[in-house]
Amino acid sequence: YEIYLNGLTGAVPRLPADLTRLEAMVEQRLGPGPAGYVAGGAGDGSAIRANRAALERHRIVPRMLRDVAERDLTTELLGATLPAPLALAPVGILSILHPEAETAAARAAAARGVPYILSSASSTPLEAVAEAMGGAERWFQLYWGKDREVTRSFLDRARAAGYRVLVVTLDTPLLGWRPRDLDQAYLPFLRGVGTANYFSDPAFRAGLAKPVEEDPDAAVLHFVQLFGDPGKTWPDLAFLREHWEGPIVLKGVLHPDDARRAAEAGMDGVVVSNHGGRQVAGSLGAADALPAVAAAAGDRLTVLFDSGVRTGADVFRALALGARAVLLGRPYAYGLALDGQAGVDHVLRSLLAEFDLTLALSGHATPATVTAEDLAPAPPGTT
Ligand code: FNR
Repeated sequence: YEIYLNGLTGAVPRLPADLTRLEAMVEQRLGPGPAGYVAGGAGDGSAIRANRAALERHRIVPRMLRDVAERDLTTELLGATLPAPLALAPVGILSILHPEAETAAARAAAARGVPYILSSASSTPLEAVAEAMGGAERWFQLYWGKDREVTRSFLDRARAAGYRVLVVTLDTPLLGWRPRDLDQAYLPFLRGVGTANYFSDPAFRAGLAKPVEEDPDAAVLHFVQLFGDPGKTWPDLAFLREHWEGPIVLKGVLHPDDARRAAEAGMDGVVVSNHGGRQVAGSLGAADALPAVAAAAGDRLTVLFDSGVRTGADVFRALALGARAVLLGRPYAYGLALDGQAGVDHVLRSLLAEFDLTLALSGHATPATVTAEDLAPAPPGTT
């Protein structure tokens, strides 16, 4: 109704309702460096395209006359009641896009009761972001690096700052081959602005030969060397289980056997994700992995999904394919880049409104009733 009212009063929204237009606007306004940091993917970009294709392959089959007058999007997720099956995905070093960075994104999410998953590679210390979140759900994403003391320090800081859910990203033991970042020279972006969570961490600082302020280049290199650990294996999860009392969710699971191993390791959930196509060029679209992972998870694990979600229809498709909730990535980063907290709010509002309408017009009053039966395969050659 707001749309029609705006039409009557002539108020034109600052950002377009079609969120797929934001990427081009960011490229134009911020230039190829910052835009490339967000939009870029691994190698030839094939995994980004696969993510879209995997979603678009499924067509929604709307059902009629089912009483959708009163809708309830409320979703129980890992012990919390959320207003919708949606959270904001962890996106690192947001100061590249806007001076208020993670704080602005967290505030926008908190205002709508949507969990904001703070990246451990954030440009703002986790304590400051926690404060900006007020009473809202606090989730923390960990890049599980080589240094045990740094990991322990992050977990201790996150716990003390009131973060409840720990999201451990498994798909980034090394950064993927990302041509757009390589062409723009990634490190200058990091220097001085990024990874403040690390730079402010006492355990991280203790591992440096000279203080960060005296030799920032060495600090950045140290960060790059320890932020991932390609040597980790499944038994190592015991360390995290031992040091985190709240729910733990493993992000980047694409194979059903990995979901089974997550359950055996005492994890609470998985995020089916290929990191937005940023890690393995040629990898399968994340939505293609979702049904098998959801089947393997059964009721032992909470299944979340991201990679390629751009519209309310995509949220619907992900739920139908077995996800309980969806994480939104690039679109909110674009909203932040274009209009700070208000831009993130615009993206959240638009996506939630579109999802609510998709749900209603497809014959559902609540996300819980959406199943694979609501989808039909697109005819061959049409996606
Ligand atoms: C990410 N992602 C990410 N994931 C994570 O666990 N920690 C992080 O710090 C980051 N940083 C990050 C930066 C940027 C610029 C992007 C685009 C993505 C991955 C993110 O959480 C999510 O998996 C993807 O963004 C989902 O794909 P779409 O929806 O953006 O295509």
